[in-house]
Amino acid sequence: MIILGIETSCDETAAAICEDGIIKASVLSSQSIHNLYGGVVPEMASREHERLLNGIVSKALVKAKIEKNQIDGIAVTHGPGLSGALLTGVSFAKGFGLGLDIPIIPINHLEAHIYANFMADPTLKYPFVCLLVSGGHTQIWLIKELGQYALMGETRDDAAGEAFDKGARILGLGYPGGPEIEKLAKGGNIEKVVFPKALMGKKSLEFSFSGLKTSLLYYMDSFQEDEQLSKSDVAASYEYAIVSTLVEKVKRAVIQSEVNTCVIAGGVAANQSLRKRLKETLIDKKILFPDLRFCTDNAAMIAFLGEIKFKNNFKNDLSFAIYPNLKLG
Ligand code: KG4
Ligand code: ZN
Repeated sequence: MIILGIETSCDETAAAICEDGIIKASVLSSQSIHNLYGGVVPEMASREHERLLNGIVSKALVKAKIEKNQIDGIAVTHGPGLSGALLTGVSFAKGFGLGLDIPIIPINHLEAHIYANFMADPTLKYPFVCLLVSGGHTQIWLIKELGQYALMGETRDDAAGEAFDKGARILGLGYPGGPEIEKLAKGGNIEKVVFPKALMGKKSLEFSFSGLKTSLLYYMDSFQEDEQLSKSDVAASYEYAIVSTLVEKVKRAVIQSEVNTCVIAGGVAANQSLRKRLKETLIDKKILFPDLRFCTDNAAMIAFLGEIKFKNNFKNDLSFAIYPNLKLG
């Protein structure tokens, strides 16, 4: 079975081909135009998707050596995300699918992030705990089986990715902030600045990152670099505070749910410190991360989950809408 995946929920225009669970091509264009503004400008994102999508889909087909009439179905993100951006992808998918007379499979972007872990390890078994950490979400889920998800905890305010992005802006770094802070933090001393870790009460599985961001803002007001303290130390301490909270809550969730496997999903899963510290903390558990290129937004995970959905009692109904606030579970 051959599935074309399309992802346009935010600022990545992406297409991929999945054939029988194997990714044959994954093409992506990160819209660098937003770098000028320090964050994604929704209207520009939609226009860029519109401009780029046709070419990206053609590229994916060529790369996978597939003719369009060989495609069995099209999987497309229909939420959550920016409404204009989602509309561009969904309209394209519906038009393309109608022309080819093939089904269109609406995909929840968050669910696709989680299922990217099955691409990394097809032997992954239910149930497992998932830490979903992206630019808009920080949640812990108990994944019981396909379509059966229980929310164990989530952030009360900012997402972890947002804490990286906003922190990077305060530190005068570029967007997206996660990779920028990670780079600057290398060689920095995590003990130089003590940033607050919120909601650390014994059983809590909730997160809060807005206070951390504010404390960085105040800290930088009077910050002066010298031999004792560098910006790199500040970045390392800030990253340490975010990662420590994530690791502690995941550990609690794994203990509380009595599972043996834990997977990480979403853009922040690319963070090396998070990967390392989770492995060090949950030594006797199976810890899984998607391939680095499939942590941040991509269409491979959309095509991959599309194939799974297509094979599980899928009913084609072209009337589906976009849902900018689509939830999981
Ligand atoms: O999943 P994603 O690509 O988009 C959303 O669905 O939101 O996640 C993007 C988020 C951004 O906030 C970005 O700063 C963060 O993931 N991110 C990272 C790293 N790479 C991306 N955060 C920390 N370390 C990284 N290496
Ligand atoms: Zn995402």
